[in-house]
Amino acid sequence: MITVIGSMNMDLVVDTVRIPENGETILGKDFYTFPGGKGANQAVAAARLGGNVHMIACVGNDVFGTELTRNLFDEGVNTANVSFSSEKSTGIANIILSENDNRIIVVPGANYELTPQTIEDLRDVIKTSDVVVMQLEILPDTVKAVLKICDELEIPVVMDPAPAQYFEREMISSIRYITPNQYECEQLFGVELDEALEMYPNKLIVTLGKDGVRYFDGEKHIHVEAIQTNAVDTTGAGDTFNGALAFAISHQYALHDAVKFANAASSLSVEKLGAQTGMPTKEAVEERLAR
Ligand code: RIB
Ligand code: NA
Repeated sequence: MITVIGSMNMDLVVDTVRIPENGETILGKDFYTFPGGKGANQAVAAARLGGNVHMIACVGNDVFGTELTRNLFDEGVNTANVSFSSEKSTGIANIILSENDNRIIVVPGANYELTPQTIEDLRDVIKTSDVVVMQLEILPDTVKAVLKICDELEIPVVMDPAPAQYFEREMISSIRYITPNQYECEQLFGVELDEALEMYPNKLIVTLGKDGVRYFDGEKHIHVEAIQTNAVDTTGAGDTFNGALAFAISHQYALHDAVKFANAASSLSVEKLGAQTGMPTKEAVEERLAR
């Protein structure tokens, strides 16, 4: 079982030709709502590939919360431990898509109601996981509580340290794979990419967008090139990478094969508008890898 512990957001997406200047009002092109949140996106990515996925999260007792939970359920994700907060509204992400750019403001809302106590109460569920997947859209103390339990139970954790923010270096010893993008990697380690990679062989996997993925295998630097594709919306590409990586790892793929698989999955995900829309099946990923 793959357990995803993290955020669920409704993505409120504005498509515009350009970003307005300070004090300026412009007319945008389109508006969409899409299910999102890094946690939910990772869960859907793993479930579409055929993974047995369990989500631990908190949404608001409102329309978005109900809709997001139903969406996960319809994707085959176990939502028994998605709780509803009566204090806070469902998390949202305000996403502005413009030509060559996307900008996101996340308001965590109910995602911050997922507490260390809830995690402790779900120890028996976490115990049955082959892998646990996390990101940083929930409370730091909740992230720590998960890492502590996974450490004790020797469950591998895939951590996407995104968005770039609080992250204590000591946490890294409890993580099996950490998958920042280049910016997050610089924020975390404050050293050149090569140096950071060499510090964490077979653990630090850095996603570089159109430049692919890099890690260090203990002897040499490994570079998996991005697959050329027609990108429509890169929102959720990192989440697809992580969900697919967790799927591959829980299916005993060797690290190199797991990274290639996740890289191909994320290349497919960017071909559709919306974080989850383009997330592929296992067959589609295999087809892309074979081409
Ligand atoms: O990684 C993409 C996700 O980040 C979006 O779905 C949005 O909800 C933000 O959390
Ligand atoms: Na997409």
